[in-house]
Amino acid sequence: MNDVARRIAEAVVSRFPRDRWRNGYIRSKIRSDPAYQAVFEAVATSDLPLWDAGCGMGLLAFYLRECGWLGGIVGTDLSEEKIMLARWVAERFYYGIDFGVRDVREPPEGFIGNVSLLDVVYYLQPREQANFFNLVDKVVPPGGVCVLRTALRDCTWRYAATVLEEWFIRGIGWIRGGAINFPRADEVIHGFPDSRWKVAFYPLWGRTPFNSYLFVCSKRTKAGYREPP
Ligand SMILES: C[S@@+](CC[C@H](N)C(=O)[O-])C[C@H]1O[C@@H](n2cnc3c(N)ncnc32)[C@H](O)[C@@H]1O
Repeated sequence: MNDVARRIAEAVVSRFPRDRWRNGYIRSKIRSDPAYQAVFEAVATSDLPLWDAGCGMGLLAFYLRECGWLGGIVGTDLSEEKIMLARWVAERFYYGIDFGVRDVREPPEGFIGNVSLLDVVYYLQPREQANFFNLVDKVVPPGGVCVLRTALRDCTWRYAATVLEEWFIRGIGWIRGGAINFPRADEVIHGFPDSRWKVAFYPLWGRTPFNSYLFVCSKRTKAGYREPP
């Protein structure tokens, strides 16, 4: 584990109200999951605000602030409980972050900027996933980026482990909701047409057994696309 992740995890945990189980989860999530750092690297040099769609307790937003990123952040999630907690923390400790209860199918009003969607897209039906990618195409301007992490549907043991984990977290009530629809890689790639987007994707398993991949989708400008740093 690297020292930066350890420092950020301790800083973020210290902002939350005491709760041994939840704060233990936050600590281990930030220490072990490389996704927040990957989003930071993709947006670090961008002047655009970020919409974190399906933001949960706001951990990505807090991670970005702890990294020193000062751009505007809007986080939305269906869970009122998580958004209330995220707001509680943001109001006390972080500047320029708005949280709202909202379905990812509705962007924040008037939002134009970068989008992150970490471990959320598979809660949407396949047709809704395609609609969401169209929505991203509307809100991300040329030169902007969408960073998306999802588990992929394939024939690997990692995919089986991911499905089992989803059943488990639903069973204990950590996440509520209907069917899970893990996309195939080509279904995500087709959501970002080559004429307007350049898509790079790679495994982002961290120290988990899950079949997670990160897609960094850069919207082309007339001159090309903005290469993530
Ligand atoms: C696995 S958590 C990921 C949270 C956050 N993105 C992160 O990486 O820390 C999935 C989140 O998606 C939210 N979610 C699921 N379906 C949603 C929808 N249709 N609209 C908004 N949020 C949704 C859940 O409430 C949950 O907080």
